[in-house]
Amino acid sequence: MIVTTDQLFKIAYGKYAVGAYNINNAEQAMGLFRGCIQSKAPFIIQISKGARKYTDKRMLEAIIRAAEEIFPEAIFAVHLDHGDEETCYDCINSGFYSSVMIDASHDPFDKNVEITKRVVDAAHKKGISVEAELGMLGGVEEDIKVDEGHACLTNPEEVVEFVRRSGCDSLAAAIGTSHGAYKFKGQQSLHFEVIEAIQKKLPGFPIVMHGSSSVPQEEVKRINAAGGKLDPSARGVNEDEYLPAAKLGVTKVNIDTDGRLVWTRVHREFFRDKPSEFDFRPPGKVFIEEYANFIAHKNGKLGSAGQLDDVRAKVSKK
Ligand code: G3H
Ligand code: 13P
Ligand code: ZN
Repeated sequence: MIVTTDQLFKIAYGKYAVGAYNINNAEQAMGLFRGCIQSKAPFIIQISKGARKYTDKRMLEAIIRAAEEIFPEAIFAVHLDHGDEETCYDCINSGFYSSVMIDASHDPFDKNVEITKRVVDAAHKKGISVEAELGMLGGVEEDIKVDEGHACLTNPEEVVEFVRRSGCDSLAAAIGTSHGAYKFKGQQSLHFEVIEAIQKKLPGFPIVMHGSSSVPQEEVKRINAAGGKLDPSARGVNEDEYLPAAKLGVTKVNIDTDGRLVWTRVHREFFRDKPSEFDFRPPGKVFIEEYANFIAHKNGKLGSAGQLDDVRAKVSKK
């Protein structure tokens, strides 16, 4: 059942975080749905601009519709990840999305407000909610690379004005993470003081954490042992920090890179061990199973595992 992102946020806020997982193909969708059913968790499927272009946006929508039929017990929202204005309008008008993200965080404050407000006005007319970003994460997004020197944490002093003027429904905040596999060197952690300060300024308002992959060392080692050349110093977010962040209002946690690492490890190991194989379905099957286990594990860390019956009861009351 597709629900609104707002419904999930209202139920989860302050208790646990909802996992927002990027998908690009049918195998990921199968693993995602299986993993969420297995762990009895609500979830958010997110689709990036790159994912919409990879095959065709209609292909992904059809895959999600099919998955909804195959797994009637699943409860989820569909979200556009890192949209520009044009893509937001396309998604808003498609009638398929529960929410969109307008990412104008690279623009100055006033311009960010102005762009976000235009998207909010269009989205709210159709009952769709909007995630906006304030502050700038480091790392690589589709067409923008922000190096660490230019990344900047969200300034809690700006959030009230930003939300009031833009009308956005949730706020992607830069709290020390970055996109991709190379987030941290050494022992860094989330900036809990920033999350706490934002929650104080905006009590009850959902905060979104981007760049939340944990980049497990074991995955990196296995990928490299099977011919990969990932930098072994790659580090991600400590998964044990998801839940404390959720208690401070982080309600949506975006995870993509860790799933790509699962894909890479499964396929590298498979073809290393079976070099004469050329049917892609056997490793595809392994991937679906491993991806489902990975999703179930993440949902456990986010605290969303086991919440499905409660969510079902609350959304069906409406
Ligand atoms: O934040 C970006 C997400 O990981 C999506 O990545 O734009 O390569 O699909 P993508
Ligand atoms: P990761 O690269 O840490 O998985 O972050 C994904 C993300 O923020 C998608 O919007
Ligand atoms: Zn992101």
